Amino acid sequence: MKFEIKRICCIGAGYVGGPTMAVIADKCPSIRVTVLDINNQKILDWNDNDLSNLPVYEPGLDKIIKRCRGVNLFFSTNIKEEISLADMIFLSVNTPTKTKGIGAGQASDLKWIEASTRQIASYAKGQTIVVEKSTLPVRTAETIKLILEAQNDDNNKKEENNNQFYILSNPEFLAEGTAINDLENPDRVLIGGENESAISALAKIYENWIDPKKILRTNLWSSELSKLTANAFLAQRISSINSISGLCEKTGADIGEVSKAIGMDRRIGSEFLKPGPGFGGSCFKKDILNLIYICNYYGLHEVAEYWEGVIKINSWQQNRIVRVIINKLFGTVAEKSIAILGFSFKSNTNDTRESPAIKICNDLINEGAKLKIYDPKVSKKKIELDLNLKSTVENICSPNGSWLYSTTILDAAKGVDGIVILTDWNEFKNINWNELYKYSRKPTWLFDSRNVCDTDKAKEENIKVWELGSSSSE
Ligand code: UDX
Ligand code: ADP
Repeated sequence: MKFEIKRICCIGAGYVGGPTMAVIADKCPSIRVTVLDINNQKILDWNDNDLSNLPVYEPGLDKIIKRCRGVNLFFSTNIKEEISLADMIFLSVNTPTKTKGIGAGQASDLKWIEASTRQIASYAKGQTIVVEKSTLPVRTAETIKLILEAQNDDNNKKEENNNQFYILSNPEFLAEGTAINDLENPDRVLIGGENESAISALAKIYENWIDPKKILRTNLWSSELSKLTANAFLAQRISSINSISGLCEKTGADIGEVSKAIGMDRRIGSEFLKPGPGFGGSCFKKDILNLIYICNYYGLHEVAEYWEGVIKINSWQQNRIVRVIINKLFGTVAEKSIAILGFSFKSNTNDTRESPAIKICNDLINEGAKLKIYDPKVSKKKIELDLNLKSTVENICSPNGSWLYSTTILDAAKGVDGIVILTDWNEFKNINWNELYKYSRKPTWLFDSRNVCDTDKAKEENIKVWELGSSSSE
């Protein structure tokens, strides 16, 4: 059996599906790529002539869309037809943590995977390779297989379509904010599967721009579990360094120096040792919770507890930042104005899923603070949804706390008692502290939870500074 891949489609036009398919289309001009979504507005936005309106902000993505859209890259809601014509279908739908039922709070909710698999079962024709792209719990391929085969057992359909499915796991390791570079120059590509020809067909696509030595072939289950494990290990490093940031503040050690010193040990490495307000994003928390669920399911309770620690430290870091802000502002933030700079979970993305800013802002609002929130890429509407609270109009003050959307750093900092940095956006490195100080209320505090600001310059302007992991904070 040899596959010839001329036409592929991807179910799910989100942060993974969109950029991934754009790069495949860019690197493989002879393949026609269609990205599908049930959300009509999302598809309209992907097709928008104004490239600053794309649903996903990712440096470099707009240029690829400009080059390929309408040539061999399409965005559509025509799920039925595209599935029936595709030789290969990527599954890139969301798999959030279940909020109710068995496994609530830990297990991944697979209802979108199931729904899209059923769409494939109904509409696909002939030989089709189905590729898991979303991060999935180990053994999800089994569920996908069961659904697809059940449809095949339906005799009528079988005669009609003569269907045959081949399932592959090809987890995506891209990080948001650097997605295009990660896709163009990945450390490795992982393809898990049972059918060698199907694996080779997908490997051949990647070989258009990736060294074959970097393409790893495994069985389905190793591939699924490797993705969960990679995310768990990365998140664990962040919780480890964040736990030490607290200790540095008490002992006189400096987290930047400690991080550099341990990172130069080849066995540890320098990446993922930046302290911050805790990890966010769509993967880390969800995947660790899922790992915990699976461990408990198999009776490995100690292993589950071990990974639970990583999540606990992440919440602890967010809680303690809120406590620091309140303590420094004389024990209360009620009716005080505080500027929040950065709302996305990291720089260079408009994604706010699991952003530490959500918890930190909500806690400050609950304490009665009046927040002024600025983020270069996150919209007012998105923040309103995340905080479950409308932005106020200037000068309206609520005893229950409130927040106001700001469109510039200066606008956010006017009249505030404190400025809190929550995302590592580049523009926060060069803030004009002299100008900000003029407009703020004195004494003015800077809380830099990402260690991105030029705090020496801020101190020169008489701003009081708290830096994460530094004992020299006032
Ligand atoms: C992550 C994985 O990196 C990626 O391989 C996987 O496919 C999906 O999950 P992503 O969530 O997009 O990617 O971003 P990442 O760069 O990993 O950052 C995650 C969180 O950790 C962010 O909130 C970031 O600010 C934080 N972080 C990261 C730190 O606090 N310190 C660090 O040193 C690195
Ligand atoms: P990720 O970060 O994994 O890409 P997103 O939430 O950004 O996750 O994207 C997932 C996309 O999948 C959403 O745009 C959602 O509308 C889409 N989706 C979910 N279920 C289906 C389905 N059955 N058919 C088509 N699209 C779907």
